Amino acid sequence: MRVLALTTLAIGLVSAATYPKPKKINVQVGDRPYYLVEDMDAGALKQKLQSCSEKDQRQSDFVIAHRGAPLQYPEHTKESYLAAIRQGAGTIECDVAFTKDKQLVCRHDQCDLHTTTNILAIPSLAAKCTKPFVPANPATGTRASAQCCTSDITLAEFKTLCGKMDGFNPLGTTVAEYMAGTPKFRTDLYSTCGTVLTHAESIKLIDSYGLKFTPELKTPVVQMPYQGTYTQQQYAQQLINEYKKAKIDPSRVFPQSFLIDDIYYWIKAEPKFAKQAVFLDALVDTPAGYVNATARLPQLKKDGFKIVAPAFFALTKLAADNKTIVPSEYAVAATKAGLDIITWSFERSGFLNKGGDYYYQYISKVINNDGDMYTVLDVLAKKVGIRAIFSDWPATVTYYANCMGLMLFN
Ligand SMILES: *[C@@H]1O[C@H](CO)[C@@H](O)[C@H](O)[C@H]1NC(C)=O
Ligand SMILES: *[C@@H]1O[C@H](CO)[C@@H](O)[C@H](O)[C@H]1NC(C)=O
Repeated sequence: MRVLALTTLAIGLVSAATYPKPKKINVQVGDRPYYLVEDMDAGALKQKLQSCSEKDQRQSDFVIAHRGAPLQYPEHTKESYLAAIRQGAGTIECDVAFTKDKQLVCRHDQCDLHTTTNILAIPSLAAKCTKPFVPANPATGTRASAQCCTSDITLAEFKTLCGKMDGFNPLGTTVAEYMAGTPKFRTDLYSTCGTVLTHAESIKLIDSYGLKFTPELKTPVVQMPYQGTYTQQQYAQQLINEYKKAKIDPSRVFPQSFLIDDIYYWIKAEPKFAKQAVFLDALVDTPAGYVNATARLPQLKKDGFKIVAPAFFALTKLAADNKTIVPSEYAVAATKAGLDIITWSFERSGFLNKGGDYYYQYISKVINNDGDMYTVLDVLAKKVGIRAIFSDWPATVTYYANCMGLMLFN
């Protein structure tokens, strides 16, 4: 015991003394940005983006990796984060959820293990799921179901899981059929057992490249206080403590939450981290909420909020000509209130030939080919003035950012 402890201490001292320099990497955006640029409608923006075709690519703070690079890699896995880093994302997201033993791990939802991992294929762990797998019943039309939460299992159990592409087949009559639900615009090519990560491991990985962090405190699905004692505030504090423990400068951390009280908590308890806190504004999602969300922006600013982040559909609209994409009322009001804007999530919509999905809902009339996403990005970057954007495929945004010189901020 004693020898072991001394060895550990010695290793600790060596690594603290040498402070490894962030790895420098050769950023690669691959062929997709070129494909999208060629797909654009003719015009000045297309020409400008074509003119950047042979530029060297560098990391950009304008680019936030949304769950890594889940257009093709299993979300929130080491492989997905590495792909995002290779693609030039300046900030990497770990969505934070807690296990049964209250350890923080990277998962988009506290209860998505049945769609993002192989948990159902491991009988001993599947038995612990909040709602065990029920196969579809074609005779009655009953759909397949399951619900498996990070809080159903311990950290040690979590670490035995394989990350897979997010998806499920509601018509599955077996676990294998249920698990095979990857949308067809994605791929299973890299879904071969993604390495799941703790929040602390994500910090170490991202830090080794000298990049920035944007952990999202996921809204708990279980009742808080969890197990009668673990409060929402303790959970919010634990997230910040993991950066302190890793000696990360607060200016590199952009903690996010959809829960407004989490932001108020950080403003009070952790002001240095709160300076970069990102309030994910979901009130915009209904028309009545949108009006209220726009109206409350000046109050948020007064209360110490710095960055708001609605889904990007809420930042644009069509002008009276029904053709030109322009900043929305919310976008104008946020800027007027002195708030920075970050938005989400690019490259999540699949094919855009039929007006796009949720993310393009206010401008769907002018969306009819995949290249149109760059037209929208250009409005967000130049007219709305967003500070950064989350993307499921960071390379697409990295190419744009390098072409337009949107590189380093703060
Ligand atoms: C919007 O604000 C009004 C006035 O405070 C309130 O009555 C209404 O419930 C709010 N609606 C939404 C969706 O937030
Ligand atoms: C724009 O679309 C709206 C709603 O579809 C329509 O009422 C309006 O006349 C259109 N305006 C123009 C200039 O085409």
